[in-house]
Amino acid sequence: MEQAINMSNQPTSVQINLEKCLMTPYTVHDPRHVSDLKAQFYDQVAAQKLIDQGDPLVYEIYHHAFITDATDMAMGMSVIHPGKVGCEYHMTKGHLHARNDQAEVYYCVRGQGLLLMDDMADDFQAVDFNCGTAVHIPPQYAHRVVNTGSDILVFVSVFHVAAGHVYAQVTKQGFARLVVEVKGKTTLIDNPKRE
Ligand SMILES: [Fe+2]
Repeated sequence: MEQAINMSNQPTSVQINLEKCLMTPYTVHDPRHVSDLKAQFYDQVAAQKLIDQGDPLVYEIYHHAFITDATDMAMGMSVIHPGKVGCEYHMTKGHLHARNDQAEVYYCVRGQGLLLMDDMADDFQAVDFNCGTAVHIPPQYAHRVVNTGSDILVFVSVFHVAAGHVYAQVTKQGFARLVVEVKGKTTLIDNPKRE
């Protein structure tokens, strides 16, 4: 759901309510269910079964764009619900930026998980992403957040609208490693699609 983006050269505020998981006002609210991420999850049989059983919500995004005559910064709030598809934890789709000069900051304000960063060549990093952790994601690194906890994971993002979101390469190849639960423990395993 998108609302009108108001251009303003004046200082602008948004309110983040962590109890209700709301950011107001917002210009975009985008709920993403298992069916929206089917290509991202490794276990296609488990994904289809969940879709057939009601297609649970994996995560929601709220964005607010601060458009002025000169800049286009935006703030997002993402809420990842706990759960798994097969043995793989709920996660965001993951994307690259269309522009190769665009970084982003992710700030975890609730929950626990991992932030995966992958240059889609030879560098992959999975950093602990827990309440209080802020990470600068350099340009040209694909990024994805995984909720490995039993509570919701909420993070705030700051970026430029013009950075652009590109999903195709990540959807096709995936990140270098998958985050799965093995015998009750969070475990990273190599992604067969990348070997
Ligand atoms: Fe991004």
